[in-house]
Amino acid sequence: MIRKLGALGLGLGALWLLACAYFALQEPDLRFSAEDLRRPLPAWPPGFLWGTATAAHQVEGGNRNDWSRFEDEPGRIAHGDRSGLAVDHWNRMAEDVARMRDVKANAYRFSVEWSRLEPREGGWDDAAFGRYRELLSLLREARITPMVTLLHFTLPQWLADRGGVRAPDFPLRFAHFAGEAARRLGREVDLWCVLNEPNVHMYLGYVEGVWPPGRKSPAEAAEAFAGLLRAHALAARAVRTHDPGAQLGVAQNLIVLEPGSRWSLPDWLLARGAGDAFNWAFYDSIQAGRIRLRSPGFPTLDLPLLELAGSADYFGANYYRRDLVRLAPGAPGFFEIRAGPGPRNDLGWEIYPEGLLRVLRQAWARYRMPIYVTENGIADAKGDVRPSYLRAHAYATARAIAEGVPVKGYFHWSLMDNFEWAEGFAARFGLYRVEPGTLDRIPTPGAGAFADLAPPQGP
Ligand code: FCB
Repeated sequence: MIRKLGALGLGLGALWLLACAYFALQEPDLRFSAEDLRRPLPAWPPGFLWGTATAAHQVEGGNRNDWSRFEDEPGRIAHGDRSGLAVDHWNRMAEDVARMRDVKANAYRFSVEWSRLEPREGGWDDAAFGRYRELLSLLREARITPMVTLLHFTLPQWLADRGGVRAPDFPLRFAHFAGEAARRLGREVDLWCVLNEPNVHMYLGYVEGVWPPGRKSPAEAAEAFAGLLRAHALAARAVRTHDPGAQLGVAQNLIVLEPGSRWSLPDWLLARGAGDAFNWAFYDSIQAGRIRLRSPGFPTLDLPLLELAGSADYFGANYYRRDLVRLAPGAPGFFEIRAGPGPRNDLGWEIYPEGLLRVLRQAWARYRMPIYVTENGIADAKGDVRPSYLRAHAYATARAIAEGVPVKGYFHWSLMDNFEWAEGFAARFGLYRVEPGTLDRIPTPGAGAFADLAPPQGP
């Protein structure tokens, strides 16, 4: 009996090791050498977009939406900050476009603020549309290609009041707005990012409850996921109706999720499961033409949604960090997530440039779509790490391209410091430092590093 048990134990142990080795082979622990990072990069492919990214609520100032309401609740935002005037981009657009020229950017990703454009349900603000048109003309004159995001987290209060992204009519209302934006702005815009990070919207808003609407309910999170997918599908259709040449995609937040121990099978399974749910479930659904969510702790969803098929032309990758997932029987959900082992940025996120190459390879293997790096950047208030961060992530991007992954552009987060959601103004992501008080834009060493990596400009 004891011998039988021993044999069983040995057999299970061998299987365990084999399974770990199998996972480890699929996801080797990649390391860039100092030599790799020193070599000059190959030229970017023709037409490569090299730009910066911002989002309306974080830079414009003066927005009234579900986030500004949330900021009024005590304890929600670090240091009690409020977006307020933000960095006054609304009034300093010309100056900011000049700063983009200074760093040799040929592209700019920004979002249009729904609560400004449709302050009352069904009532459009022509002057606000006009202001975005001015921005688009400034960009055209500067030969900077726009990528316009239609929803970067913030919702009009009238929609938030009746359930936000869970409201039954959210998909239709959003599609109506997206169609209007395409009708009025589509002549100047070919590249649209329909949604920014629906996975973050769902997790921080409905699982962790640290973003609006501050809920902690897996059932509501699943409804939010379904609502965001429906909204994407209907909006994609509406944009194409008014702007037939539109290229559409969604920016997904991608975290490299690795096992706490490479020899722990539960850690591998947890890391894989978390990655499938957080990183890939949204585009997996787009690809399948079905709303699909299968993740322990959440209601399972598997519903047909015809409009999803073909609703994305590219995959948008927002990449910042690696985290380790380990089994933790005492923790909620039986697992815990910590930052990876390498150096960290000011927010405690691991700086792991190899991860960008890994997620680009994975996204290409999964979806076979062109890819944009729609965001990548570092919270670095001193500004002295950003240059090497930028070079290493540009190297990761160039290496993916050399391997045959069709990466069409890279957008650095961000042009200038801004209101970093629940982290407030202390987290500084800008190539330009924004001085408190004067709001002057002062180049950090990252600005020069960004310009040095830019593709050559036309005559
Ligand atoms: C991303 C968000 C962006 C910004 C960066 C730092 O997740 O899309 O708005 O906050 O993180």
